[in-house]
Amino acid sequence: MAIKITPTVIPNWANILLDEIIADEGKSDWWIPKSSTHDIFETCFMKFVNGNLQYMRFANMIAHAIDTDPYWNPAFTKIREFCDYTRTITGEAGPWGRMCIWKMPPNSHILPHRDLYSYHGCVTRHLYYLSDMPLYVEISGQEVTVEQGLLHTFNPFEDEHELINRNDSDFYFLGFDTWDIGRLESLKMFSAKTPREYFA
Ligand SMILES: [Fe+2]
Repeated sequence: MAIKITPTVIPNWANILLDEIIADEGKSDWWIPKSSTHDIFETCFMKFVNGNLQYMRFANMIAHAIDTDPYWNPAFTKIREFCDYTRTITGEAGPWGRMCIWKMPPNSHILPHRDLYSYHGCVTRHLYYLSDMPLYVEISGQEVTVEQGLLHTFNPFEDEHELINRNDSDFYFLGFDTWDIGRLESLKMFSAKTPREYFA
């Protein structure tokens, strides 16, 4: 089952979060997720709510998850507040993993893929769609009917996913992860010794 919770529409937050993102334009740069080994994300842009966490360094991701005072980007306090609120809907209680703002320009495409680092096998992924326009989203062969304010979750390790912006303006959404508490507990012994190394 690709979608782990029934998709829920939370419309009242979407424009508030868009305003926060627009207010940050020109104050911090968008990051281009280019890779030397694939071109899955490179037509898109990202910003980070709790740092540009390097998920390929698993020991650092564990260190971040158990950090009692992790970094938060001061530009995105509303997004942090919203993400906290979603716990009442998803029932997810585990620490936050990577928390990203995505900007998909017109005709951009996140190619079909699964996220296959060890980190991704330990988290649930939440997507929250901010823009008031369609977006093509397919998860594990199942098309998602996207509307502004839609929240849903899936497993990024198991469920292939793809997103296409066929509009003539930018589409914004959030993608943020929660750790599986049981798995994190069993992994604590592998935590990096210096937690602040988890940043790029
Ligand atoms: Fe992904």
